Amino acid sequence: MLRDGEFDKRVGDDGVEVWVTQMGGYMNMNTAFIDRGSGIVAIVDPFDSERWVEGLAQEGLSPTHLLYTHTHRDHVAGYSSMMSLVPDVEVWGHEEARVPSLLGHVVFKKVDFTETWANGPDTTVEWSAGAITLGVTHSPGHAPGHVTLHGHGVYHAGDLLFTNGMGRVDLPGSDPRAQWMSIRNAKGILMELPRDWRLIPGHRYDWIDGTTPDWVSVGEALQHNYALNSPALERMG
Ligand SMILES: [Fe+2]
Repeated sequence: MLRDGEFDKRVGDDGVEVWVTQMGGYMNMNTAFIDRGSGIVAIVDPFDSERWVEGLAQEGLSPTHLLYTHTHRDHVAGYSSMMSLVPDVEVWGHEEARVPSLLGHVVFKKVDFTETWANGPDTTVEWSAGAITLGVTHSPGHAPGHVTLHGHGVYHAGDLLFTNGMGRVDLPGSDPRAQWMSIRNAKGILMELPRDWRLIPGHRYDWIDGTTPDWVSVGEALQHNYALNSPALERMG
């Protein structure tokens, strides 16, 4: 298991690096996609921005893009400090994750996206920068404008899916039916991915055997994740 702020670093056959870490009391999982050739560093949901900037600087790198799965407070915890440290970073999120009506509630926090995705629920658009190409899937239900991102050996699930389950749907802005539609769509995507890709959950929670792995393989998630195997998926029209 990764210690808080410890980075797992891997380089793919395509030269793109993927760094994964776990940070904070809620065990938030962060993923970064790095193309050294073009100096691109795209971080999903950075929690502890000081740690990210310090870890990257040790290798001569600096964040260029923030990609947000959703705007729950724990996922955007690093936003303000990142803007102070790297003011010109691009900030991406889904258009529907701008939730002015929900900002009064403690679970959300405002983020000023510099760019947005605006695709409909359960559709995927391509996002690319340098050698990095990701599929960005609008997956609402846990939160408005929630997205998942996949590419370079990783499916970053945010709070749509954890290793063994799925995100809560009892929060302000949640939509249980939309969540199950998103889960069904995600299952279709996962089934098309190589089984040895990693499913990175938004939080590191317990797996089926009581261990707490940082991630599971796509194959393991398809086989054992209760949401991906729920009879509810068959019942939806
Ligand atoms: Fe969340």
